[in-house]
This record gives sequence, structure tokens and C-alpha cells, in this order.
Amino acid sequence: MNRERAVCSLKSLKVYYMTFDGPVKAVDDVSFDIHREETLGLVGESGCGKSTLGSAILKILPRTARIYGKIFLDDTDITALDEREMQKIRGARISMIFQDPMTSLNPIMKVKDHFIETIRTHRPEISEEEALEMAARALAEVGISESRLNDYPFQFSGGMRQRMMIALAIVLRPSLIIADEPTTSLDVIVQAQILELMKEIQGHVRSAMILITHDLGVVAEMTNRIGVMYAGHLVELAPRDSIYYDPLHPYTKALLESVPNTRIEDKELKYIDGFPPSLLNVGEGCRFADRCPKARKVCFEKTPKDLVLEDGRLVKCWLYESEGQVEE
Ligand SMILES: Nc1ncnc2c1ncn2[C@@H]1O[C@H](COP(=O)(O)OP(=O)(O)OP(=O)(O)O)[C@@H](O)[C@H]1O
Ligand code: SF4
Ligand SMILES: [Mg+2]
Repeated sequence: MNRERAVCSLKSLKVYYMTFDGPVKAVDDVSFDIHREETLGLVGESGCGKSTLGSAILKILPRTARIYGKIFLDDTDITALDEREMQKIRGARISMIFQDPMTSLNPIMKVKDHFIETIRTHRPEISEEEALEMAARALAEVGISESRLNDYPFQFSGGMRQRMMIALAIVLRPSLIIADEPTTSLDVIVQAQILELMKEIQGHVRSAMILITHDLGVVAEMTNRIGVMYAGHLVELAPRDSIYYDPLHPYTKALLESVPNTRIEDKELKYIDGFPPSLLNVGEGCRFADRCPKARKVCFEKTPKDLVLEDGRLVKCWLYESEGQVEE
């Protein structure tokens, strides 16, 4: 177990979207810590709450969203901060890499102006000239020539744009980087290059990273620990190899069996029958119960607790009730 102080800690985080039909419980009682230099992969089926969790840490959720619980960045509970205070944190202490860089880049701003704006918003004491030097260094780290500072983002290829986003994300050396499906829109060769680059960069920036992806191949290459989400719950959290070679939660097992090209020995591909439940007005019980081959009566009646096993793994399943301690 890592005893160093966490860069970011989620304590019973809940994110509910308020709708006319009731609350959509997109993230429901999720707790974990992430440490410096660690890459935590977050995986799970579409709609299980991965992006909502990432956006909650940056507080970039739509107005209809409500956050409960706490999110500590070092010692600060950022759920208590207002928008002005959050603006000082975004891009400086926490930065985000999105699937499609164009959504967060301004098409009529040159690359250099994106850097100058990011740097000088957080560090107004830095001159424009110095900001440009920092931009050139950050671009060099991702293999882009400083001559491209005068270009517009649309003049870059998809892979290059993503590299530029990475440079922008690290230019102020954040403590935490949240990458949400950073390579999903790229072809496999560029995807591999970008992942390799992200690994290398994280090695010298020494930040913590949350890597959100539906691709178990990506998390296998990139992460130290993996959190598996299902219908708004974190159902398992363990070191990468434990998840791949000794998964505990029935959903983790089913997820691994349904993915081609993982390192699992069993080559037969299986599908998980049924669909995740609606997150609108969800009640008591395990959210995986309708699809779980091991479900029993208690599973439909009571929500399993977050159990911490002797080796530090977290699993949210009644099967392990006698082996684990309830997480405080
Ligand atoms: N603005 C919103 N209002 C109501 N419900 C929402 C809103 N945004 C997301 N949701 C719901 O919250 C749940 C979690 O969505 P989220 O986008 O976080 O999932 P995800 O795991 O990132 O999925 P994907 O893999 O498809 O990106 C889904 O059920 C989604 O329909
Ligand atoms: S709590 Fe029950 S239904 Fe849920 S995963 Fe465990 S065994 Fe299956
Ligand atoms: Mg998402």
C-alpha cells in the first residue's frame, strides 16, 4: 500500500444529474486515492460514469449536476471552492486531455496563443517571451518543432493535435492529469505512439494520472492500478496484474472475458448478457445483480459495501463479505 500522501483523494463522491424524472446517479459513493507518478486506469462499459467522475474532479460538469462527498487535491477539498478558485486550479494543478482536442482548442487562436493564455492566466508574472520559451520546451518534449507555434490547430494532423494538447497539459507541471479516452479517435499506430509518449512524459513530469478508457488493452500497457466502474459504482480497484490475472468481481471477470486481445489465457470470447441498469432512480441492491451468474437473494436486496481485502484490494460484492473489511 502506498503510504505517501495522496495527490488526489475521493471520499464518498456522488455525482447526480437532476432531471425532471429524478436524479441520474452517474457516480455513486466512489472513494479512492491517487499518488504521484501513479497511473490509475478507469474502465467500464459506456455510461458507467467514467467521464462524469473525471469532470467532477475538474468541476466542469453541467449545471444540472450535483456533487456530494469530498474531492481532496493535496489538502484542499475542491468541492468547497467557487468557480473563480477552480479556474486557478484547472490547467495549473490539474489538467485534462480530451478525446477530441478540437473541443477544447480555439480554432481561431494560433498554437502559441493557447500556450501564452494558459501560462499567463496562472502565472501572470511570466512575460510573453518567457511563456513562448516554455511553450517551445513543452512542444519539444512531445516532438513538435517550435516553428509550429505560429500555426493554427487545424493545420495539425489528429495525432499532432493530441501531442500539442499533451504539451499544453504539462506546460505548468500539474500534480494531476486526467486523460479521458485520449487516443480513441486516432488510428492504432498513432494511438500507440501517443500512449508511449504519455508514459514517457509522465515519467519526467512525475504527476499522477487518471486514464479513462473503455479499452482494456490501453490500461494494460499504461497503468499501475485499475478501477473498474459499473453503473456508477467502483466495483473493483486493484493493481493492474491482479485485475488481469486474478479478477475478483464477477463484472470484472465478465468484462475481461468479453474483450479480445487481452492477456487472458482463455481465448473464448463471451458476451455479457443484458444491459446495465438505468441510473435514474436506482434503488437498493447490487447494480450488476440482473446480469450476474453468482447473484443470490441478498444481492437484489442490499447494496454491497466497499470491502478492503487483506492485500489492499477493494471489491464491492457480497461474495467477499467474510474476507474483507468495510472501507471507512
Ligand atoms: N447532462 C446529463 N444529464 C443527465 N444524465 C447524464 C448527463 N450526462 C451524462 N449522463 C448520464 O450519466 C451516466 C454516466 O455518463 P458518463 O458520460 O459519465 O459515462 P462514461 O462511462 O463516460 O461513458 P462513455 O464510455 O460512453 O464515455 C450515463 O447514464 C449518462 O446517460
Ligand atoms: S454482489 Fe451479488 S450480484 Fe453483485 S456482483 Fe457480487 S455476487 Fe454478483
Ligand atoms: Mg466518457
